[in-house]
Amino acid sequence: MFEQFAEQVLPVYPKRSFAPGTLLAPVPPVLVTAARERLSDSLYNGANAMTAGWTGIVNTKPPVLSLAVRPERFTYDLINETGEFAINLATVEMAAQVDFCGVRSGRDVDKIAKCGFHVEPSSSLPSVPILLESPLALLCKVRKSEHLGSHTLFLADIVGLEVAEAICSNDGKIDLGKAGLLAYAHGHYYELGPVLGFFGYSVAKAKIRKQRL
Ligand SMILES: Cc1cc2nc3c(=O)[nH]c(=O)nc-3n(C[C@H](O)[C@H](O)[C@H](O)COP(=O)(O)O)c2cc1C
Repeated sequence: MFEQFAEQVLPVYPKRSFAPGTLLAPVPPVLVTAARERLSDSLYNGANAMTAGWTGIVNTKPPVLSLAVRPERFTYDLINETGEFAINLATVEMAAQVDFCGVRSGRDVDKIAKCGFHVEPSSSLPSVPILLESPLALLCKVRKSEHLGSHTLFLADIVGLEVAEAICSNDGKIDLGKAGLLAYAHGHYYELGPVLGFFGYSVAKAKIRKQRL
């Protein structure tokens, strides 16, 4: 396929200069859950969900992710106190709840109850509630934090994954394509479009490409 690059005419975009900004898009609008303490089974004190767009994977082995949180957030206090949180991936069906958890604070409203979310503990980090409505949760323990200015950057080890049965195959593979994940770009929420390719498809043999697309 890459042999055809020379024949393909891609559009080019003359640029205009802007002041520095944070326009990286699309990003996953995730729900960060945390709590003060676990009281019993699925009961937590101070359980909260906050929307975050500024998160990303920064290392594979060991698995580490980044999360940037403003110190004025309720979630910041919870993470600072416990050093633990979960990143719950969001689906298209959850778009309004994701927005709500990004414009209201857990200091003023029980967002989990208001959104009708169900929480449960995970096996890897039971002290942190995860959302049953989310197809995948990454359980995280803070290894390091740094105040950058408006936000504090948390670097956290991913200590476990909880994945919905519905997106797991019998042989233990995870198919995130089935999850209906939500995307966020410059102030708007989107659903993902059709599959265009797979990792390495530009150099894959034609037969493999045909099989997998
Ligand atoms: C799409 C979206 C993305 C957001 N991303 C972040 C983020 O990455 N970091 C952050 O501190 N706040 C972010 N916010 C704002 C917080 O979610 C918001 O201030 C929230 O009310 C804080 O909740 P809390 O006080 O319960 O923690 C985002 C909001 C939205 C709607």
